[in-house]
Amino acid sequence: MLYEFAPMEGFTDSVYRRTHARFFPGDAAPDRFYTPFISPTHEHLITPRQLREILPEHNRGFALVPQLLSNSAEDFLWMCGELAGMGYREVNLNLGCPAGTVVAKSKGAGFLRDPAALDRFLDTVYAQTPVKVSIKTRLGLSDPEEFGPLLEIFNRYPVSELIIHPRVQKDIYRNEVRLPIFERALRESKAPVCYNGSLYTAAACRTFVHTHPAICGLMLGRGLIANPALLRQIRGGAPLEKATLRAFLDTLLAEYTVLFGSPQSAIRRMKGIWSYTLCLFAGHEKLERMLRRANDPWDYKTAVDCIFTQLKFLPDAVDVK
Ligand SMILES: Cc1cc2nc3c(=O)[nH]c(=O)nc-3n(C[C@H](O)[C@H](O)[C@H](O)COP(=O)(O)O)c2cc1C
Repeated sequence: MLYEFAPMEGFTDSVYRRTHARFFPGDAAPDRFYTPFISPTHEHLITPRQLREILPEHNRGFALVPQLLSNSAEDFLWMCGELAGMGYREVNLNLGCPAGTVVAKSKGAGFLRDPAALDRFLDTVYAQTPVKVSIKTRLGLSDPEEFGPLLEIFNRYPVSELIIHPRVQKDIYRNEVRLPIFERALRESKAPVCYNGSLYTAAACRTFVHTHPAICGLMLGRGLIANPALLRQIRGGAPLEKATLRAFLDTLLAEYTVLFGSPQSAIRRMKGIWSYTLCLFAGHEKLERMLRRANDPWDYKTAVDCIFTQLKFLPDAVDVK
């Protein structure tokens, strides 16, 4: 069973990946990370920010699959060539991003609106790609039944892995996942299928693997941000320790302060992580406001000290919103 760390824009950048690999190695490490989506440019130039994400020297010590967001086979293939030159052997195509601006450009989940164009794109890509191409997809735009015809298209190509987030674009990340459609796809997909969506605890992950033995893997996002030792727990190891979580978060803050050149920006990034991690602390509601209002390093440290010293730590209580 593969355990994959989901790509999350604003969370799982190269700083996060390196720091996670340092504090959660071995049985706590994902089998692979994915970069948050990278949009290949029409000009065929890689920006410094994109380079920071993908250069192998920024990603040592863990397996990484770059994720691309594009509806242009030419731009996608150009980037595949660049990535192959850096030593990557696989890229992932994003067919799931639900953001309005992305969907409006017929990219991400928006590409699912035009199956004929998607088919032409995949035909060109799979004929010419120098690397394996996996796909991360939703079920469709508004009706999960859209997935039947989409799967027929995917089944025509050597998709190295089909990661299914069984929601439609209109669900964003809310609403129940649509398990019956996922299960049908699992039966009918020619590609190995990885499940992604709303699994937050070790118990829930183990049950899912047990009840869906045909999946090749689980991809975890918000649950892993909330509890960065979740994979170790799933694999039967020790739960997250409070001291390790504190050291991990303090190191991230220090790294982001250097990267952004601004403590305020680093604190903003940390608050994003805390929006998931806070649920590991019983009664966190009373300190949430204090953390939200902290905008300078002193106030931030005071709020974090209060969370760690005053609240009961419950590494299994993941209730991600
Ligand atoms: C803040 C945020 C950023 C995300 N960024 C990406 C992204 O760059 N690429 C992608 O394919 N999915 C992205 N996702 C979706 C996640 O990879 C994942 O599919 C989603 O969170 C559901 O999995 P989970 O329930 O385990 O969190 C993002 C989700 C969130 C909440």
